[in-house]
Amino acid sequence: MDNKNILDTNKNYWDNTADDWFGVTALPKYGVQFVTEDEIQLFGNVSGKKMLEIGCGSGHSLKYHGDNDAAELWGIDMSTMQIENADKYLAECGYTPKLINAPMEVECGIPKDYFDFVYSIYAIGWTTDLQETFNRIASYLKKDGVFIFSWKHPLHHCVVVEENKLIFEKEYFNENWFTYQLDGFDITLCNRKISTYINALAKAGFVIEQMIEQTDSETMTAVGNLDSRSIKAKMLPLSFVIKAKKF
Ligand SMILES: C[S@@+](CC[C@H](N)C(=O)[O-])C[C@H]1O[C@@H](n2cnc3c(N)ncnc32)[C@H](O)[C@@H]1O
Repeated sequence: MDNKNILDTNKNYWDNTADDWFGVTALPKYGVQFVTEDEIQLFGNVSGKKMLEIGCGSGHSLKYHGDNDAAELWGIDMSTMQIENADKYLAECGYTPKLINAPMEVECGIPKDYFDFVYSIYAIGWTTDLQETFNRIASYLKKDGVFIFSWKHPLHHCVVVEENKLIFEKEYFNENWFTYQLDGFDITLCNRKISTYINALAKAGFVIEQMIEQTDSETMTAVGNLDSRSIKAKMLPLSFVIKAKKF
């Protein structure tokens, strides 16, 4: 499958399911059963800062920064329905964001050397071209600007829970694209290694300041009859977050 087909498949999924994801994957959450921004404070004070979200979804993470006095809210998302939902939601909340309906991989008129923060909450992994996407994000940031993103941890994809034990089911090294059905629609994704993200960041001109792999304390201290995701989350991170600086 070529990149255009992958984008078309995934856009179709997001356009058909946008309402089901309204506010689901948004700051202060970085991921499911994961430490939150309230706890780890990667952004710090965003007052007066220019913010761009990659894969902004329904706009709830942009609202989080608006509520913390960010000066400008920008979002890009390839799903027309997600952009419509974000536009409506943020207008209802009193914000006037600049929202762009386009894939993150392509030139779409976002200003260069402009933003203090570019960030992405559970969207970067959808890119069909990680290096191109990181190069573009670097170009949007001012010097010393910060890029923060969260995504599904690659080990989460490789390991299953059977009889309360973790079993390695898939190769960590396999980055091939695969298609499966979710909610009746096809999705096409690949599972990139952590080193793939780190090497692409370095090549795009970023210095990594912090990487977080931390299940939330509620899950870590839970006892008794746990569901299989909680059993897994106690043993490995289901998500990861990277904070990097453009130099
Ligand atoms: C889990 S949602 C992100 C939700 C968002 N953090 C929020 O606060 O609502 C992932 C988003 O990535 C978008 N997406 C998927 N592939 C994309 C691509 N190649 N370029 C831009 N956006 C993409 C989807 O349309 C979806 O809205």
